[in-house]
Amino acid sequence: MPLIASTVPLPDPARQLLAEVGVVRGPERWEESLGEAEALIPVLSKQVDAALLDRAPRLRIVACPTVGYDYVDLDACRERGIIVTHTPDVLTDATADLAWALLLATVRRLPQAEASLRGGEFQGWRFRDYLGGDITGATLGIFGMGRIGQAVARRAAPFGMRVQYTSRTRISDAEERALGAEWVEWETLLTTSDVLSLHAPLTPETRHLLDPNSLRRMKTGSYLINTARGALVDEAALVEVLRSGPLAGAGLDVYEHEPEVTPGLLELDNAVLLPHIGSATRGTRMNMAMLAARNIHRVLSGELPLTPVM
Ligand code: NAP
Ligand code: GLV
Repeated sequence: MPLIASTVPLPDPARQLLAEVGVVRGPERWEESLGEAEALIPVLSKQVDAALLDRAPRLRIVACPTVGYDYVDLDACRERGIIVTHTPDVLTDATADLAWALLLATVRRLPQAEASLRGGEFQGWRFRDYLGGDITGATLGIFGMGRIGQAVARRAAPFGMRVQYTSRTRISDAEERALGAEWVEWETLLTTSDVLSLHAPLTPETRHLLDPNSLRRMKTGSYLINTARGALVDEAALVEVLRSGPLAGAGLDVYEHEPEVTPGLLELDNAVLLPHIGSATRGTRMNMAMLAARNIHRVLSGELPLTPVM
């Protein structure tokens, strides 16, 4: 039976499906199984590069249990005839919900207020305590109007936010109308959004999209929300603009050097920091595992995968 190396613990239904076509090894034994493995479920904290692939000469499929696949060297896989798959759609709503939770927590300073209460500082309702920013009437800027970007936009109307966006591909007029979203140039998005939320993949073009120069040009008193990939932002420069302006705050679920958190971020009172939990709901993780397992099942059975990257 083909060996399937998994870096992540798979729920029983996914293991049962894979047992029809192979033997699952992992997560503690995935690396020692590479030499024999015909399928790999990788983890985004470990690069799937040429060096790793050279240790896995029998590999036929890399089935990412994530929608982002920036940690996989696609050229190296292509050269070796290895199929790469990912998990689009099944995590869109969970990640969009988390982006909104982070947006609200950041603008209304929820973790800071809760920590204050837990620290015994609550003295009853006071007029000037725990003040955050205003949501209703503010402009939400979305960079990357794909699956998650659109799901985030869809949630904006009930909060009374105006939506503008920049993306590589403009969505149709009908989609813009349905979302109540207006296409603008990057410069406008950067300089006029009250909240800028990132939803593009990490690519050579988007790496350090927010560099020191662009961070300094963000609207005074605005907020940055990043649930995409940390390296879209130069985080050392982000620390500076969170200290001295123009930003009022930032909410991050992802980091430039995960799992390290860039020095300075932890000390900031205006940063809300989550440990990469965008898709972390029980149902979503089950669906992600099942989709990765279905892709492997099909490829090891000689069929085309459901959600190939390339
Ligand atoms: P998607 O549907 O492919 O959407 C990405 C959007 O970004 C597309 O509209 C794409 O445009 C646009 N884009 C790509 N390169 C661009 C560029 N250089 N400039 C402007 N726009 C660009 O992907 P998704 O499912 O929404 O996921 C987006 C990202 O979220 C993933 O890649 C992943 O990194 C991240 N994510 C994070 C979590 C988490 O746990 N925090 C969970 C899920 C996903 P085109 O249509 O032209 O390609
Ligand atoms: C998580 O970060 C994903 O890309 O699915």
